Amino acid sequence: MQLLNNSKYIIYNDKDNTFTINSNKSTYQMKVDENKSLLHTWYGEKTVGSDYSYIFTHMDVGFSGNPGDRSTDKTYSFDTLPQEFPQYGTGDFRINALDVLWENGTRGTDFRYSSHEFYSGKYNLEGQPHFWSREDNEAETLVITLKDRFSELKLELYYSVFPEFDLITRSAKLINETSETVFIKNFASAALDFVYSDFEVLHLPGQHTGERNAEITELGRNIFQVRSTRGTSSHQHNPSIILQGKDTTELVGEAYGISLVYSGGFNISCEKDQLGQIRVVAGIDDSNFNWKLKAGESFETPELALSYSSNGRGELSRNLHNAVNNNLIKSNWVNKRRPVLVNNWEATYFDFTKDKILEIVRKAKELNFDLFVLDDGWFGKRDLDISGLGDWIPNEAKLGGTLGDLAKEVNELGLDFGIWMEPEMVNEDSDLYRTHPEWALAIPGKSPVRARTQLVLDFSRKDVQDFAIEALDNVLQSGNISYLKWDMNRSLFDLYSAVLPADRQGEVSHRYVLGVYRVFQHLLDNYPDLLVEGCSGGGGRFDLGMLYYTPQIWTSDNTDAIDRTRIQHGTSFFYPLSTISAHVSAVPNHQNQRVVPISTRAATALQGAFGYELDLNTLTEAEQEFTKKFISFYNEYWETVQKGDYYRIIDPYEDKYITAWEMVDKSKNNAILVVVYKDLMTGRLPKLIRWQGLDRNATYKLTLYNGEGRQVLGEYKAADLETAGLKIEQASRNYDAVWYVAEKM
Ligand code: GLA
Repeated sequence: MQLLNNSKYIIYNDKDNTFTINSNKSTYQMKVDENKSLLHTWYGEKTVGSDYSYIFTHMDVGFSGNPGDRSTDKTYSFDTLPQEFPQYGTGDFRINALDVLWENGTRGTDFRYSSHEFYSGKYNLEGQPHFWSREDNEAETLVITLKDRFSELKLELYYSVFPEFDLITRSAKLINETSETVFIKNFASAALDFVYSDFEVLHLPGQHTGERNAEITELGRNIFQVRSTRGTSSHQHNPSIILQGKDTTELVGEAYGISLVYSGGFNISCEKDQLGQIRVVAGIDDSNFNWKLKAGESFETPELALSYSSNGRGELSRNLHNAVNNNLIKSNWVNKRRPVLVNNWEATYFDFTKDKILEIVRKAKELNFDLFVLDDGWFGKRDLDISGLGDWIPNEAKLGGTLGDLAKEVNELGLDFGIWMEPEMVNEDSDLYRTHPEWALAIPGKSPVRARTQLVLDFSRKDVQDFAIEALDNVLQSGNISYLKWDMNRSLFDLYSAVLPADRQGEVSHRYVLGVYRVFQHLLDNYPDLLVEGCSGGGGRFDLGMLYYTPQIWTSDNTDAIDRTRIQHGTSFFYPLSTISAHVSAVPNHQNQRVVPISTRAATALQGAFGYELDLNTLTEAEQEFTKKFISFYNEYWETVQKGDYYRIIDPYEDKYITAWEMVDKSKNNAILVVVYKDLMTGRLPKLIRWQGLDRNATYKLTLYNGEGRQVLGEYKAADLETAGLKIEQASRNYDAVWYVAEKM
């Protein structure tokens, strides 16, 4: 970052004392008022940069008090004014972004503007994932420094803007320049105040095997929370919401994307206040948080990503996808073709031998797969999920030799080799636990909560992180391993660390996340070509924080294609298809027994990083033939899928019978529209589907694909496909899928 005198996108107007941050299509504005309070004046559609403080009202509201320096002005209250960083202690009874406890038992701060600076490029966050800029002109940064009126506490607010993606990132840093120790009870990454309230919230609740259902909640005059107290971002909630107008759709209307770059417990709260104004506060979950900040120390929050579109949720998602692919994911694998893999989990579970593995690998080679992934069960005493975690020593009897030997044999058969690990966990029945019981999170004298009969290693400890690094190094260096699936199969509880004093136990949850990040950073630094896939019982840790380190994440332990259309639809609001790992699995499906044709399973797995997860030798001749053809289809069109523009065409929640999505190559040379039939109803008219994102003046050649083969449909004008639409016949059998490829002529 370089200090700037003049910034292009961030404007300070010294007459109005406003800071206006512009992106290509949005404007964000703050104002330092006559009391040096930093008020929030605007976030939304791009404006001409006036002073937008005129949209809010100084009003005498009974029981909303006035700060000491405006004690006789009944119209000035922090309980009603929109603020940039609301704190406990100013007479604001709404949810806050900062709550500090002092040595004498009192709480509160009152931060006022002190100074500001502009920089070219994106700010950095040491030890935490964050968006980053390549060249200085990709992003600009504003740092505003505030000082507490009554102490030497300093607060720095960070803003970076990526104009092209209408993305603004925020983070805050509290610096203790006092001579006493304070405790931070709550410290959010950011708050957003709106003086109007016609919003609803699209959020992504779910559970294991049913992640990220898109749900829309209207805001009432109360506090609505999207929150995980699980120590991970979780299946139950995702750290992302869209605040949208009541008439917003995929194509029109206002949409604000709000997403934490954080993988731990979090809290995104929306409060509609007594006047009907809305405040959103997003950050670390404060229920498991109490941070001791000694004199001279500082604390930096995780980052929050904000994006705005006035053209509906579709454009918002595409901006976020582009930003994630261009400026978040650190892995060398970003924007590269992901190998077509076959994973043995649902093929064998724990019950495999070397011969069985090699049988799958041979078939995989025949069908043109790129990579074989050996899942759980290859190490320690691990033939069931009750033992062995922590002992990352290959079970050579089961593998028929060393791990390196197996990798070599797989390579010789023509495939790359990948491996599964769960570095954060330990089973009590393991040598690791017998040697280091104190490494597991547990409260002294209490029997800890188990989940999947396992305990969580205390990653807040450096020695535990170092152990994990060593275990990973040993495994990754024991052979030619080109892929790692890092799993994490339970939520955190019993948050007690044996090496921290009593008054620091409230730090364990966040320190755990920082510890996990440190180990992931080790992988990025030392294995730049390793493809790391994140996983937490499927998509229990699918967030922007993880994506910084892992370019793809196993989306769900539910591999049923029809359920996956809903899960992947929800995931697509924030996360690009390149990150959404999706596999063809066996039928009847292992989670719900549904039987779906292989063409539908494949077309659905193409909505992400594509692979298989079944015993390839159980496929019929016809299914094998189809698989081969589909892999060459993927190889031809992977860029359209993984780097292209994504359109949600028919919402699986809204239409009972059909769901559809479209992927358009960046240069608009081709597009793929996938249609999945979820249910049948005899006698229904064909459906008209409007394409999106084509080159409007061009003509495209359309080819229809299904399980049987393909058929050229002829030439279509893009303008017709996007207005009148394309007629899609209803399915003749349940759970069918068809996909259309449009090639520009
Ligand atoms: C989790 C993962 C699965 C599989 C199993 C192995 O559930 O999500 O894909 O790796 O663990 O135990």
